Amino acid sequence: MIPAKTVQEILDAVRIEEVIGDFVSLRKRGVNLLGLCPFHNEKTPSFNVSPTRNIFKCFGCGKGGDAISFLKEHESFSYPDALRWLARKYNIEIEEIERSPEQMAEQQAADSLYIVNDFALQHFQEQLFDTDEGKSVALSYFKQRGLRESTIRHFGLGYAPDQRDLLLRRAKTTGHSVDLLKKTGLCSQDATRDFFRGRVMFAIHNLSGKVAAFAGRTMSSDKTIPKYVNSPETEIYVKNKTLYGAFQAKKSIRQLDECILVEGYMDVISLYQAGIENVVASSGTSLTEGQLQLIKRNTSNLKILYDGDPAGIKAALRGLDLALEQDLNVRIALLPDGEDPDSYVQKVGSEAFKSYVDQESKDFILFKTHVLLEETKGDPIKKAGLVRDIVASIARIPDPIKRSVYLRECAGLLEVSEEALVGESNKMITTAVRKKQEKDARTPGAASDSSDNAQLPYAPVTEKSHPEKLQKRPSSGDTPQENQIIRVLLLHGTQKLPEGNTVAEYVLTGLEEALNSFDDPISGSIAKEIYDHFSATGEVLHNSHFLNHGNPDVQNLTLALMSEADEYSPNWDEKGYPLQNQPKPEFNFPKESIDSLDYFTMRKLKKMCEIHNPNRIKAAFEAGDIEEGTRCLKIQMKLKDSYNMLAKKHNIVTLP
Ligand code: CTP
Ligand code: MN
Repeated sequence: MIPAKTVQEILDAVRIEEVIGDFVSLRKRGVNLLGLCPFHNEKTPSFNVSPTRNIFKCFGCGKGGDAISFLKEHESFSYPDALRWLARKYNIEIEEIERSPEQMAEQQAADSLYIVNDFALQHFQEQLFDTDEGKSVALSYFKQRGLRESTIRHFGLGYAPDQRDLLLRRAKTTGHSVDLLKKTGLCSQDATRDFFRGRVMFAIHNLSGKVAAFAGRTMSSDKTIPKYVNSPETEIYVKNKTLYGAFQAKKSIRQLDECILVEGYMDVISLYQAGIENVVASSGTSLTEGQLQLIKRNTSNLKILYDGDPAGIKAALRGLDLALEQDLNVRIALLPDGEDPDSYVQKVGSEAFKSYVDQESKDFILFKTHVLLEETKGDPIKKAGLVRDIVASIARIPDPIKRSVYLRECAGLLEVSEEALVGESNKMITTAVRKKQEKDARTPGAASDSSDNAQLPYAPVTEKSHPEKLQKRPSSGDTPQENQIIRVLLLHGTQKLPEGNTVAEYVLTGLEEALNSFDDPISGSIAKEIYDHFSATGEVLHNSHFLNHGNPDVQNLTLALMSEADEYSPNWDEKGYPLQNQPKPEFNFPKESIDSLDYFTMRKLKKMCEIHNPNRIKAAFEAGDIEEGTRCLKIQMKLKDSYNMLAKKHNIVTLP
């Protein structure tokens, strides 16, 4: 079983267009994407994907849902298997709650490695803070490099004294297994020597904050000693999927919607201390795909700070095409000569640092073009190579609009015709697409560019069932207001109102009384589920829960409500329908939420005023229960007052 927290993490990471884009070729159509439906045969595309709602919907066959429903339908996955697939795609670790014996053993092995790393971390910290040598040699080193004690503790820095087997001996006396020390690389394979000796220590955390590995820096300036040494790779430390500082930076990266990439450990720590917290380090190597995916999960904006010589920068630029492929917006800033982020921020302070980076950072493609142009001055042969190099980068960008903007800009910079660049780029893309098709053809089930289904080497997926078209069901009584409330909860439940509470908190509090008096049983059951879950856990059920609900009526209503505002006519684009005049739904949700609850409440109040309460009054007086009758009369006044207050607010006729 996958823990709820991880499910939430997966659902948060998923971008539906990326998931479906793996199977269906999609084109931008206004705010949505459009493609040929993989679930029924069609020649003109009616398969819509909405990135803002994170759902898909086919206007032809009516199928729709979220990424999980898509994978269930398209790949015949079970719900948990769909989650696992998504977790792999987005590099999310799943710690399953119930596991097979092998998985259990694996987990136990990993846990024991974490335990031994924790023990080592404690040891290194004690050596740093609580020993005379640590204080005079290592702590003073960190302080001399400008680090405050709180920073030193926050990043788990420590000290390994220059002794042969201090950690080993300590492990033995405290009952830690020497085998595990060997496995994590903390001691030599014959268990006679510690691995880290005479170094200040840096703990390397995984994304959930557990210590996965260490790095040790020498304090000597002797150039023959390696400056940094690192733990070897283990089950819990996979270098090409690790970014130093990611655990500490994660929150800030999401908040600022930008990730800053630097090279070194000290760069991350110094910037963090200076209040620039959205920073991670590649630890001196070029970026890997796994690391880029890690970034992409949190933001699409990557800013790289480079120090170093032109040769080094050129080499680094080569690795960055991978980032373009991930559709990251990459900017580059070069630091002044001889400075790295650590030294520069310590020198000029955080404000000056920030404004320097803001001013200096340039778009990656343009930056690359400038750097390469600089060297090929006057050499036509070199220049031809350079043009291909740049176009190869541009061709990696998945977004055709972005691509064409770059081609135009670079044509200007390179002084070649735009047509030539476009031609070159198209050639490269065609080759890449052909390669991908060949690969897809070898992997049945992975539909690719489906512009011509008949030529595919496998039969297209046929419809298994004909789900009813998603029409609004006939509504009775308060159904529209009830549906609208559910819609608000599903779309905006976790968003914060200006007052600081979430939409769910606001709506559910107002809904409490009416939970059992929904006219529409399906809306009612959804409301109850959200309410119960919220009372029990304080969390809002994800709309994915309802899109994949056991009850198909719940599934269908959820999909219909969620796609409501997205159902735009395909020819709006052509007609230039004035959508721009309306605030985008993302910004309109506070008003929408409050209004919805008001209208819902008015309906319920009105019904009580006009039907339920008068009946009670009548019954009470008929039975001679004067006391009850008077009580209900008072209630009647209160109900009317409440209704009229809301009615006035919304300019609606008040009750007499
Ligand atoms: N690095 C490494 N092994 C080395 C040298 C460097 O793993 N022998 C990695 C480290 O992650 C280091 C990064 O490459 O942080 C950048 O190296 P460098 O610029 O030499 O070091 P700084 O980060 O500037 O470290 P310091 O400021 O402590 O000198
Ligand atoms: Mn440095």
